[in-house]
Amino acid sequence: MSNVEQTLSIIKPDAVERNLIEEIKNIFIKNNLNIKNSKKIHITKDEAAEFYKVHQSKPFYNDLCGYLSSGPIVVMILEGKSAVAENRKLMGATNPKDAQENTIRKLYGISIDKNSVHGSDSLENAKKEINFFFKN
Ligand code: CMP
Repeated sequence: MSNVEQTLSIIKPDAVERNLIEEIKNIFIKNNLNIKNSKKIHITKDEAAEFYKVHQSKPFYNDLCGYLSSGPIVVMILEGKSAVAENRKLMGATNPKDAQENTIRKLYGISIDKNSVHGSDSLENAKKEINFFFKN
């Protein structure tokens, strides 16, 4: 099948803490995004800083890195047709307040920081982000 892609998804500390892992995984599965690989990890602030390097000039960078390293997260490779765009559609807008009904961030997000999930924003970044967490 053409345009089958892989993308990286992260279930962030706020959602792991509230035991939302299975609910969120089920949303992906029901929407034809197969979970090819999944692991629960707790990264350091330095690792978070490396992962979010594209945001290093942003005023929220330090808090963002502190937050992603504040507790366990679940990193996953999602695979499916137009997986990058499909995952972003399922997540909804970055700020849960702006997210459409029934998107993950609308259902579960608490704030722009505690927005429950991360997803790669392009195919190019998906490759980099998958490689960051799932190096062979
Ligand atoms: P995420 O998709 O993980 O990518 C970067 C994160 O920065 C984003 O989700 C938000 O949780 C967080 N963030 C905090 N403040 C902002 C902001 N003003 N604009 C965009 N993202 C922000």
